Amino acid sequence: MDLKITCIPGDGIGPEIVAEAKKVLDAVAGKYGHVMHYTDILMGGASIDAYGVPLTDEAIQTAKDADAVLMGSIGGDTTTSPWYKLPPNLRPEAGLLAIRKALNLFANLRPAVLYEELAGACPLKEEISRAGFDMLIMRELTGGLYFGERKTVEENGIRKAIDTLTYDETEIRRIAIKGFEVAMKRKKKVTSVDKANVLDSSRLWRKVVEEVAKDYPEVTLEHMLVDNCAMQLVKDPAQFDVILTENMFGDILSDEASMVTGSIGMLASASLNDSKFGLYEPSHGSAPDIAGKDIANPIATVLSAAMMLRYSFDLDKEAEAIEAAVLKALQEGYRTVDIMSEGCTQVGCKQMGDLLAGFVN
Ligand code: IPM
Ligand code: MG
Repeated sequence: MDLKITCIPGDGIGPEIVAEAKKVLDAVAGKYGHVMHYTDILMGGASIDAYGVPLTDEAIQTAKDADAVLMGSIGGDTTTSPWYKLPPNLRPEAGLLAIRKALNLFANLRPAVLYEELAGACPLKEEISRAGFDMLIMRELTGGLYFGERKTVEENGIRKAIDTLTYDETEIRRIAIKGFEVAMKRKKKVTSVDKANVLDSSRLWRKVVEEVAKDYPEVTLEHMLVDNCAMQLVKDPAQFDVILTENMFGDILSDEASMVTGSIGMLASASLNDSKFGLYEPSHGSAPDIAGKDIANPIATVLSAAMMLRYSFDLDKEAEAIEAAVLKALQEGYRTVDIMSEGCTQVGCKQMGDLLAGFVN
């Protein structure tokens, strides 16, 4: 099979981790008889430096022409980088928001898994971490506060900023359907998270999610308020299967969930539209402080590439081969510095990529 992939190396550690993911993909292509066609585009700070904007129309077109997009990470140090002296619509993150919107990537899947081998990294008490957990946050990605009307005005000498939170039922329905569909392939439980005790958008969210649930009688649905969910994630993370939530809540809860695993360098993500097209990226950021030192953990990006094979190309066996390679590296005791523990072998970014490529079977 021919796979047309647009790559966004991005900023910070992005180029290093994408290079390792390509290495692993090439190993899969060699073993399973596929041909990878990569085209790189610039986004974020790299694009600002080259073109003065965080994402060009040409780059969007190149992404649209591919079957899937594999991304590293974008952005720099917000206090020291000159990119953050620019107006908000020209900063690195604006490129990410623009590509999500332009490609209609409304469904963001963020799995948070506690690997048995890395249970020691979990910051929770052992009696909680012992149970392990495997959840997936299904975050709405192209609506809500992120894309509502916003402005800053001055009224009678008082500065005032306004951000609007809007959802219509079609936006809620399509992400709810994605949530239930993925729950059907997992443990068949959806926890829909909202703030229905305060927000109208949440009350509509709840109603529409209940309507969608009628089509999935096998799936157990529960509703949870977002503040309670934040607590439950540290109190009893094993209770969750699929967490279905809106854009802003999903942004915050997915960071919390990843922290609870203790190994954010391991967590992949996928952002999908209504077809097979998707953008795949690690859940972590661009870590400018460790860029170029060959110490970043490429596993989250490698696992994002596995998600890409599964969701955009229906190559389940190949995706599993990557996941098995990651597990083997962990079981054999190889660790990048972020997940290093006593008795293990510390390796750099490139070496981890080589090991994973070699373990693909
Ligand atoms: C994320 C990030 C982005 C978001 C930022 C970089 C705009 O935090 O992907 O979670 O808030 O969506
Ligand atoms: Mg975030």
